[in-house]
Amino acid sequence: MSQRSLVLLKPDAVRRGLIGEIVGRIERKAGWQIAAMELRTLDRSVLEQHYGEHVGKPFYEPLVEFMASGPVVALVVEGERVIEGLRTLAGPTDPIAAAPGSIRGDFGSIVRENLIHASDSEESAERELKLFFPGLA
Ligand code: RTP
Ligand code: MG
Repeated sequence: MSQRSLVLLKPDAVRRGLIGEIVGRIERKAGWQIAAMELRTLDRSVLEQHYGEHVGKPFYEPLVEFMASGPVVALVVEGERVIEGLRTLAGPTDPIAAAPGSIRGDFGSIVRENLIHASDSEESAERELKLFFPGLA
């Protein structure tokens, strides 16, 4: 079941010099490919669409501010069950609750600054891929 997922290395990961560490973990999963990868600074309109499900929640404004605070690395990862697999590799949203060995569990301690986004379903992946990489075949 080959799938594609949209991954964002969040501004904290880029600022802390963790791009190589995190991309390396993704690359080392057998059979997974990086189909696209770009460093870019996200504007508010992209973030409003990306995090549309969270509009109105108390953490929404600080989340958008944080996600626009510096460049992110946007990637498309392709391969067997990548959607579920990347969520496992990332760990749960709260890095303190995330197991050691996961990206959030190894490097994070603050819920907002949890290093990585990965699409949470096939529907989200489809929407997010169109938003971030509209030209991708
Ligand atoms: P993401 O969408 O970024 O992949 O993360 P997620 O699915 O694990 O978590 P989600 O519930 O979608 O929340 C999106 C991001 O908002 C920040 N957040 N802060 N209570 C808080 O302060 C809070 N809750 C969520 C995190 O950066 C989370 O990843
Ligand atoms: Mg989410």
